[in-house]
Amino acid sequence: MEFKNIEIKKEGRIAIVTISREKALNALNADTIAELKTFFHNHWRDDSILGVIITGAGKSFVAGADIKELAECDVNSAVETSRLGLYLMHLIENFPRPVIAAVNGFALGGGCELAMACDIRLASEKAKFGQPEVNLGLIPGYGGTQRLARLVGRGKAKQLIFSGDMIDAAEAYRIGLADEVYSPEELMEKALELANKIASKAPVAVSKAKECINKGLDINLSTGCDFEKISFGTIYGTNDCKEGMAAFMEKRKAEFKGE
Ligand code: CAA
Repeated sequence: MEFKNIEIKKEGRIAIVTISREKALNALNADTIAELKTFFHNHWRDDSILGVIITGAGKSFVAGADIKELAECDVNSAVETSRLGLYLMHLIENFPRPVIAAVNGFALGGGCELAMACDIRLASEKAKFGQPEVNLGLIPGYGGTQRLARLVGRGKAKQLIFSGDMIDAAEAYRIGLADEVYSPEELMEKALELANKIASKAPVAVSKAKECINKGLDINLSTGCDFEKISFGTIYGTNDCKEGMAAFMEKRKAEFKGE
């Protein structure tokens, strides 16, 4: 599939996905959602990629779902639109490699939801976050009511979703929506630095840790710990686990192969 709304660049073993619909501030129309879905499907088992960075072209990360398309929906097609967006967020959240959002500008509505589906959110000082759907007579439809409350707590999530307020990067950092804030010039460099640092670790261990954290947030503590216990055992079946511990004992740097 040839992409028209996203650009893919490889920097070593990191894939940089840039959403590029600048004329609509990178709003997620159905085609963009389909292209992102194809990218994550195509690379689900691609061992040449050890991390993904999602960012936006120009002054916006993603200014939301495409309002011009939303305006055409009826009750049934709105449910379908939501389902497709939610499916993409689920794919990203469960992608076996870490996915970092480099939030360069507006992350509103579906854009904030996209950032929240990523594992880690790095923000530019110019980033703006918000769930402004109530201004349109809507509610978030790509997981915002669920993920925002889990990330920042129910009070802050309700404050942001009920008011439709836009917050800056410093406030997003303060409430735990952004994990780090950098100058616009530094943002991609820092995102790549973090992605490469993670890529230098044992890939299966990173992937398992992601799975454990995600699963644990959906279930009770003791079931989550049981899942961790089984996963901890599973990791012992990897060569990287043997290599990591042997390297420690032999006082050398581990060479992980992702197996
Ligand atoms: N969908 C479609 N087009 C959008 C868009 C969106 N979400 N956001 C911006 N655009 C378009 C504008 O219509 C405009 O296009 P035209 O030049 O053809 O008119 C272009 O992008 C530039 O936008 P502005 O002129 O408005 O730029 P600005 O700098 O003055 O304002 C902004 C920027 C504050 C982000 C403003 O564009 C805005 O408020 N956008 C809408 C944000 C929003 O409400 N997002 C939530 C969408 S609903 C949703 O996401 C539901 C869900 O959870 C599934």
